Amino acid sequence: MKRLSLFRHYMKIKIAPSLLAADSSRLADEVKSVESLGIDFLHIDVMDGHFVPNISIGPAIIKDLRAHTDLPFEAHLMIKQPLKYIERFVEAGAGMITLHIETISASDFRKQARSLHKRGLSLAVALNPGTPAAKIKALCDSADMVLLMTVHPGFGGQKFMYEVVPKIAEVRSFYKGDIAVDGGINDKNAKAAVKAGANVLACGSYIFKAKDKKKAIEKLRNA
Ligand code: DX5
Ligand code: ZN
Repeated sequence: MKRLSLFRHYMKIKIAPSLLAADSSRLADEVKSVESLGIDFLHIDVMDGHFVPNISIGPAIIKDLRAHTDLPFEAHLMIKQPLKYIERFVEAGAGMITLHIETISASDFRKQARSLHKRGLSLAVALNPGTPAAKIKALCDSADMVLLMTVHPGFGGQKFMYEVVPKIAEVRSFYKGDIAVDGGINDKNAKAAVKAGANVLACGSYIFKAKDKKKAIEKLRNA
């Protein structure tokens, strides 16, 4: 336990603005507006209207955005049949693919991890608020990040679910890599999430709707 808390203390906080909260009519400008603010990567929400009741960005837009920034892209796939589309997002320029454990078997997840790792790409596993941590315990050694949804996926601008906080601590007790929280993050609840063991903050509205994005990012980083 002692070693774990030391480890936690030194983990770098990473900030990943979620494009879902950006103005979709001028995405390239929105990306540029956060690029120089010391963020770590862009979190791009992909929704198919089946796994979640909303539709968002697809590979064509990601591909076009790729030409406007050097920031790494994480494609958070909230889609019912991720296996069918992973390659499309890789081709579009995503360096990390995030798959929901509710949409894929453990053996397929491992297979995808091997395939992506061979090409220098990363694979993360995401869990809905109601999915227990135990679901990923056996496979998280092949994941480059665990992403815990702190809202029910589908929409930006929802309220952070504090009831997920104990699950962050539970995952941290068996997973030493990056733990991301996604949904409703602001400077206040980020503190609780980081204290419980999260070190990646995927954050949409709090950054893109802020009057001063730089300040918002600094406040998150100080969580
Ligand atoms: C929700 C998405 C989140 C969300 C974050 O389905 O996965 O990434 O857009 O946006 P905020 O921070 O506004 O909740
Ligand atoms: Zn997301």
